[in-house]
Amino acid sequence: MIVCVCRRVSDREIARHARAGMSFDDIQFELGVATQCGRCEGCARDVVEQCTSGHNVAALHCETTVVAWPQSVAAA
Ligand code: FES
Repeated sequence: MIVCVCRRVSDREIARHARAGMSFDDIQFELGVATQCGRCEGCARDVVEQCTSGHNVAALHCETTVVAWPQSVAAA
């Protein structure tokens, strides 16, 4: 699932970096997640937290629900 639409970053990509021991800030710097509109930050942080707290990645659940993206963000 794409977590960051602006930077086209998936939950798997974030999880892979988190499992490698990177912090949210490191992942943000490396992948650019949550550096544009910022709407994905909560979900991206949830993914990192769930990966670092020993939860199964297959059971990831984001509290942030994206209902609709503004055209300007979706087209970025
Ligand atoms: S959706 Fe991630 S910065 Fe916009």
